[in-house]
Amino acid sequence: SKLVIDANSGRPISDTFFGVFYEEINHAGGGGLWAELVSNRGFEAGGSSVPSSILPWTIIGDESNIIVSTDRSSCFDRNKVALRMDILCQRISCPPGGVGISNPGYWGMNIEQGKKYKIEFYVRATSPINLEVSFVGSNGVKLASTNIRTFGKNVANWTKMENIVEANATDHNSSLQITTSQKGIVWLDQVSAMPLDTYKGHGFRNDIFQMVADLKPKFLRFPGGCFVEGDNLRNAFRWKDTVGPWEQRPGHLNDIWKYWTDDGLGYFEGLQLAEDLGALPVWVFNNGISHHDEVDTNAISPFVQEALDGIEFARGSPTSQWGSLRASMGHPHPFDLKYVSIGNEDCNLKYFLANKYMKFYKAIRRVYPDIQIISNCDGSVNPLNHPADIYDFHIYTNSKDIFSMSTKFDNAPRSGPKVFVSEYAVWKEDAGNGSLLAAVAEAAFLIGLEKNSDIVSMVSYAPLMANINDRLWTPDAIVFNSYQLYGTPSYWLQQLFIESSGATLLNSTLQTSSTSLVASAIQYKNSQDGNNYIRVKVVNFGTVVENFGISINGLKSNVQQTGSSIVLLTSPNIMDENSFSEPNKIAPLRVPLEKKIEDLTYGLPPYSITSFDLLI
Ligand code: AHR
Repeated sequence: SKLVIDANSGRPISDTFFGVFYEEINHAGGGGLWAELVSNRGFEAGGSSVPSSILPWTIIGDESNIIVSTDRSSCFDRNKVALRMDILCQRISCPPGGVGISNPGYWGMNIEQGKKYKIEFYVRATSPINLEVSFVGSNGVKLASTNIRTFGKNVANWTKMENIVEANATDHNSSLQITTSQKGIVWLDQVSAMPLDTYKGHGFRNDIFQMVADLKPKFLRFPGGCFVEGDNLRNAFRWKDTVGPWEQRPGHLNDIWKYWTDDGLGYFEGLQLAEDLGALPVWVFNNGISHHDEVDTNAISPFVQEALDGIEFARGSPTSQWGSLRASMGHPHPFDLKYVSIGNEDCNLKYFLANKYMKFYKAIRRVYPDIQIISNCDGSVNPLNHPADIYDFHIYTNSKDIFSMSTKFDNAPRSGPKVFVSEYAVWKEDAGNGSLLAAVAEAAFLIGLEKNSDIVSMVSYAPLMANINDRLWTPDAIVFNSYQLYGTPSYWLQQLFIESSGATLLNSTLQTSSTSLVASAIQYKNSQDGNNYIRVKVVNFGTVVENFGISINGLKSNVQQTGSSIVLLTSPNIMDENSFSEPNKIAPLRVPLEKKIEDLTYGLPPYSITSFDLLI
């Protein structure tokens, strides 16, 4: 088989071709990228009425020495639940170490020697009381602690306590404890513990942020996904509840993925994340629809206004109503919001017949004519029956299907909206928890998208990440626990497409009798060394080795075609996966090319992804 490339003809690939999709699923935000260590910091996880669930907080002590309850006495209007501790014991009648409460974070807090942590909480009491706040390792040893005394005439009023502690040892499975050995009644609310060392101090866990940043995404779609819709509208993501001071955010039940979220990584942080990644934000907002209910067309206007307000929050002047809230959060400069999606997977007839979509579309177009509006309806077979700049396409299927879908957009309408493949993945049996097989098939699909990049302008994998302790959707690209992380093969293959954004797709013909091969060629400039390269990517989705050569027409005769490298993703076992203990079992391997490319016949291993970078 041979790929014949014409180095003189091609067309540009969109600058935003390759990006990422972040959703609060699998504890990707709270318990993941968002570095907050405390889970259920406002004791609101059971809802706004009392008694509310304090889980995963546990009580230190027993009913003979402490009674813990919840009431609605918080100083924060949007999250009234507070924790009350009636401490019945006094000094030596208390157990050693005192009584109180303990929070394990998200399956253990990662506390590291020499690192500093900011602990904040709100407290009031009936009388002055000494509290000890500590990080405690899994063996019960204190890693850091500080003593706090509520005193003076203000003791009965809510007071914010702030402390920075430094850990004297490391334990990846620690907890935060607030204890006392003094009789009295104490209320606590909004307890937070964050490492001081987060990405640019913006609250993102460094290692996870870096792994996303290494994909050099050109856009960030967020915050969902079904998370935006909710299983029920009352639990949908409503951006206004996720901005402003963290302690005033109500949090909400992520009922579609079945866990409580404190919304530390809210709308503002999503925009900030995009900016920090050097990516354009693609904001998906709730359009009055959940999985089980939706508002009537005559009640849709508040949702339309909410969307407009959200855009103003992102890019309005710092003196505008919502822009000023953004400015008060430390970002007077507008965010570069150019893409919005009217809901997620909401292309049902009822919705469109009721014409709700058009209400959003017209309102946004009128106020923000430059914003690219994304519809959730698939326009790949028939043209859309409504206006949109881009349509969204999602696909989760088996490996054979996704491999064959490398031609999916070959015959899609060329006029009209562009395509955003915002969610794709091989799943179920072929994928396991992230197999090589899945990645190989996905690579073929991505090559197909690249070849159709005259209409496919954006693509992102889903889901991006998962906390291994509660993986609600598998596979995912990045898997982590409190202190470790690894990329699945589907993560690594994406790295081969980083250079595609803004590159030139070269005209090429694959001369082959095999039905297992898919290949493409792009020309790109490497931003680090300033050199021009041709990158050939080829997938072998078959069970036998395929011989493969490359022929390039139109290169100047003095151009060097060697000194390049092969990046390979393969294994004899197609169901191989990466893990914390073997994070690079399936990962790209760089091998220098021995020969000039024209003279090379390369044996493509079965089920493999190979990429040739040719310096030209
Ligand atoms: O990526 C997981 C889910 O799949 C997303 O939330 C949703 O959009 C799709 O159904």
